[in-house]
Amino acid sequence: MGYTEVYERSLADPEGFWMEAAEAIDWVKKPSKALFEANAPLYEWYKDAEVNTCWNAVDRHVAAGRGAQTAIIHDSPVTGIKQKINYSQLRSRVARLAGALRARGVEKGDRVIIYMPMVPEALEAMLACARLGAVHSVVFGGFAAHELAVRIDDCQPKAIIAASCGIEPGRVVHYKPLLDGAIEQSSHKPEFCVIFQREEEVAKLIEGRDYDWHAFQYGVEPADCVPVSGDHPAYILYTSGTTGAPKGVIRATAGHLVALNWSMKNIYNVNPGEAFWAASDVGWVVGHSYICYGPLIHGNTTIVFEGKPVGTPDAGTFWRVMSEHKVRSFFTAPTALRAIKRDDPKGELIKNYDMSHLRALYLAGERADPDTIEWAQRVMQVPVYDHWWQTETGWAIAGNPAGCEALPVKIGSPTVAMPGYDVRILDEGGHEVAPGTLGAIAVKLPLPPGTLPTLWNAEERFCKSYLNTFPGYYETGDAGMKDEDGYLWIMARTDDVINVAGHRLSTGAMEEVLASHPDVAECAVIGAADELKGQTPVGFLCLTKGVNRAHEEIVKECVKLVRDQIGPVAAFKLAVVVDRLPKTRSGKILRAIMVKIADSQSYKMPATIDDPAILDEIKSALQSLGLAK
Ligand code: COA
Ligand code: AMP
Repeated sequence: MGYTEVYERSLADPEGFWMEAAEAIDWVKKPSKALFEANAPLYEWYKDAEVNTCWNAVDRHVAAGRGAQTAIIHDSPVTGIKQKINYSQLRSRVARLAGALRARGVEKGDRVIIYMPMVPEALEAMLACARLGAVHSVVFGGFAAHELAVRIDDCQPKAIIAASCGIEPGRVVHYKPLLDGAIEQSSHKPEFCVIFQREEEVAKLIEGRDYDWHAFQYGVEPADCVPVSGDHPAYILYTSGTTGAPKGVIRATAGHLVALNWSMKNIYNVNPGEAFWAASDVGWVVGHSYICYGPLIHGNTTIVFEGKPVGTPDAGTFWRVMSEHKVRSFFTAPTALRAIKRDDPKGELIKNYDMSHLRALYLAGERADPDTIEWAQRVMQVPVYDHWWQTETGWAIAGNPAGCEALPVKIGSPTVAMPGYDVRILDEGGHEVAPGTLGAIAVKLPLPPGTLPTLWNAEERFCKSYLNTFPGYYETGDAGMKDEDGYLWIMARTDDVINVAGHRLSTGAMEEVLASHPDVAECAVIGAADELKGQTPVGFLCLTKGVNRAHEEIVKECVKLVRDQIGPVAAFKLAVVVDRLPKTRSGKILRAIMVKIADSQSYKMPATIDDPAILDEIKSALQSLGLAK
């Protein structure tokens, strides 16, 4: 069957389509049906099934005689470590860790926060939780103590599993003081912490609360897989929204298994046993779906890469990893390729490596600009497939289904809707617009399996954020269009989310931090175009009356405040003091126009602007930062 038949069947007969896809999963109790609509517009998939994620990702491959196959390759140019773990070893390691967690009281439904860098132990911690039916929430290492504290208070973990440190080029990231600081700040306190001590830094443990990763597991009884119901949360992953409070996206167990398994062959075109590499981080959704769960559920070899596209040691690292581990399909964010292109514009370094195993490159996480796509096509000599999705959906909304039927690539488009996603472009009134017309991108409910059923402890916020604007639809928060051939074009966010180096960040969250500075009366943060990172945050600060300290000093303090509160990943380095902000007469800050000015684009003067002269002031402020040329 080609793409069109597959896609049309998924919409015309979702029961048949998704029950058939479910046959690839090992169930403890098979689902009686796929879709449960009793709580519409909240939908659930395979709710009455019983299943275990860890069994499907690990044990079943051992049971099928593939225990000797490599499950995880840790390739860490920042530490010099290269390590392979096969499926049998992975099972023993995960069962032992799960046994130790259970011995300390972690049970089905308990939450466990994981705060770890790109080491195999991070995946083992995720799988150990899945083995017990505990709900993990992985927090990205680039977030500061305050962000970790917010997540501790929201999901109330019984335990936290952390590493002693992470390694960024040129510096060791001290996780332990961040963890201790977060626990001090949070109202909820975990019962215990497990610390994976790395050679680069041995952290000081707090007696009675912290356990060493190895000592903790010594002599414990390994745990078997605990069956959970199909709608049981596999994990919570926090993502940025409009306000400072992150949204806890829930992933339900059964739909997650079915959808990811389907995607590995049909989208990423890999067969069990082949190596698949997503160069992201376990702290992001790409890391959850395509470093940990997807490849393991499907029986692939996954690469855990601890390094950067450049500087570890050079712009040939990605090619080295792909060639050495015979990677078939490779997934990264366009920003990583832009970094390589900047260091090695002609792509000389790839010539040092045998790239014959690679079939295709997949890009996601941010808009893939045509220059980067064309460069990658030329240098890598494989098809380049952009695909579009979000933390909320867990897998591609739109992509090129290369393993089912490779469709012609249109540069700048992530191709077509994936099965189960009935994507529509709507105007402000919720009416569908004609092909080629820009609008809000929405997906007609229900969303397919694997997507979020709701937000953790925040059903009202879920409805408000995603379902209320266009009744009967899921609002993606992206704007774009569909062309005559059904190809999608993703243009911009409709909210305050920006995308910096493939990292999703909230300008609202940064504004909240800036507003807490005693000298700042009012502020705005926008995302300006950046050649390397796609976007970069820029802050505008209006000072409290009577403050006459040096502006550079205040700016410096504000930059530090965002780094300390949100974390280095916010990459907040540009801010400027202005007298006032451009607003509509009703007081709304005109952020979209400020972005246009920063990016040196033309704009229409809004009829509702309070005082047009302010825009000139904004322009010169931006010019002082090297923007608005
Ligand atoms: N732990 C701690 N700090 C981290 C971190 C982590 N896991 N990841 C990033 N940071 C820090 C960086 O060290 C940097 O700190 P600095 O301000 O002291 O230099 C800061 O956060 C900003 O990081 P980043 O925006 O990634 O910029 P960079 O200059 O370090 O690297 C790229 C630029 C393009 C090489 C890098 O962003 C990259 O490889 N991106 C790939 C994108 C990706 O994996 N996206 C995931 C979604 S698919
Ligand atoms: P995240 O939840 O971090 O995966 O970020 C999701 C957001 O990143 C989407 O809503 C888009 O705004 C953006 N995004 C992801 N992939 C693409 C893509 N292929 N093209 C354009 N934007 C993308």
